[in-house]
Amino acid sequence: MSKQQNWLPLITISLVGLLSASPLHAATAPGQQAVASAHPIATAAGHTVLDQGGNAFDAAVAVAATLAVVEPYSSGLGGGGFFLLRQPGNADQPYRFVDARETAPLSANRDLYRDSDGVVQRDPAINGPMAAGIPGVPAALAHLAEHYGKLPLSQSLAPAIAAAENGFSISEHYRTLAGYRLEVMNRYPETDRIFLRDSQIPPVGTVIKQPELAGTLRAIAASGRDGFYKGKVGELLIEGVRTAGGIWQQADLDDYKVIERSPIRFNASGYEVISAPLPSAGGIALAGILQGLETLPKAEPGSVQWTHQLVELMRRTYRDRAALLGDNDFVEVPVKQLTSADYAAKLAASVDPKHATRSSELGPLINFVEGDHTTHFSLIDADGNAVAATLSVNLPFGAAFTVPGTGVLLNNEMDDFAADPAGVNAYGLAGSEANAIAPGKRPLSSMTPTMLENDQQLAILGTPGGSRIITMVLLGALEAMRGEPVERWVSRARFHHQYLPDHIQVEDAAFSAEQQSALEAMGHRVEPVGRDYGNMQAVSWDKSSNQVTAASDPRGIGEANVQRVNARSDGHKAAKTGAIAQ
Ligand code: GLY
Repeated sequence: MSKQQNWLPLITISLVGLLSASPLHAATAPGQQAVASAHPIATAAGHTVLDQGGNAFDAAVAVAATLAVVEPYSSGLGGGGFFLLRQPGNADQPYRFVDARETAPLSANRDLYRDSDGVVQRDPAINGPMAAGIPGVPAALAHLAEHYGKLPLSQSLAPAIAAAENGFSISEHYRTLAGYRLEVMNRYPETDRIFLRDSQIPPVGTVIKQPELAGTLRAIAASGRDGFYKGKVGELLIEGVRTAGGIWQQADLDDYKVIERSPIRFNASGYEVISAPLPSAGGIALAGILQGLETLPKAEPGSVQWTHQLVELMRRTYRDRAALLGDNDFVEVPVKQLTSADYAAKLAASVDPKHATRSSELGPLINFVEGDHTTHFSLIDADGNAVAATLSVNLPFGAAFTVPGTGVLLNNEMDDFAADPAGVNAYGLAGSEANAIAPGKRPLSSMTPTMLENDQQLAILGTPGGSRIITMVLLGALEAMRGEPVERWVSRARFHHQYLPDHIQVEDAAFSAEQQSALEAMGHRVEPVGRDYGNMQAVSWDKSSNQVTAASDPRGIGEANVQRVNARSDGHKAAKTGAIAQ
């Protein structure tokens, strides 16, 4: 469908919206529903549950559970994630944050991956059961249904159960991601059996059925949280992990809890920004960059000076991330200070307008490595309840270990801890000590589900992409704040700086040859990173015109879909535009 064709239904919806909302009287509820996710089957699952009378939170259960089935490389019951909720009916707490991040097993310790010579081993930290934190997604599904949803889990999980039983077709995207992990997938017979054919990556169109996963989803539908963490599934999880050399115990499953947290909230460019708190670094970094940018001389968006300002602010906030951030239920983090406008202004004041600062001039810190296979969805219901959720198993296909009898592919999120904090101390700084492994602790994350809101607009966005998540959300948010259409938030070409390594990671087409030369002349190093960079899913509600629009990143295979409630024939697919250079 061409971009132009797509605007016709948008205009129809917009005119209908104008009847109920004028620019002077912004709408209080959209009367439309939208779902943007990384897979068409998951987007359809969200709409199905909304059509059955569910609210945004029921739809979030449906979408998350269906992504767990059809995107095994990105998220799953064996993984974790964050759900940012908007509840306009709750005046005291309109925004909530459900932290379903994995936890370190109780018998983990800071030296978990050191061998007898004291050397940190990479393989067990990313492959197999030793790499897996205790999953949070099943607890989050039950929590959302119990505390926020209107429908029973048996109804909101039905689309996911059907997808697991009937199967989904392998895409080229699946093949690419399996290609990164084939050797490890071959190591674990259950993963090899379910996700490969003859131990090779199956051709496009091959149908993957997951009856064991359907059984696990049914157990959750019947018994909620206990259907996963206790009983038969719980027993199989412990037995499977331990037999394969892992360290989980029943107490790990019994103790796992989602945590409701207050999101990070601050103001920038006429919007309130609502984003992820620790154990995500995302909200803190956005506060530093967006508030810092406001204190610098105004530069034309897309210009060399604007890019320089953003890169320098990225550099400084990512340095703080590496030095200071970790699970603040375990370590002291000065969150209030780091998210204040004063602190952002101080960071910005150290930016030289003409020259790149070398990261080493800011003081040495350890590099950090983060997995980048994750998923995001954004959705809104007709009443304005909304969810931005980012979910992960870390690397593609997580730890590549599927627990026999459960269909549950485990995460390798333990690798988001700093397995070697002592390395940081060698530089004489606290470094990643804040993110050292400890029993029950949550590894630092970059997942940044975010909303921007003012009287005129609600923007809902997020993306996978490891340490680059935060800067992708930043660039998308800046497009939203400039009034650009939602298609541009998800498609614009991207760039990123994370303090170390000390270069700008740049997607194809992000900089012209002249811009790149100008940045290099200022002392920046520019490193091309190709085009497989993020998979943003976004929804916009323009309250003045009462128009809801949605878009799915053209880099992925996802789908965004808006429907006017009670007139579902008006449903349309949102545009999948090509990348737009800045
Ligand atoms: N594993 C990706 C993240 O949490 O940022």
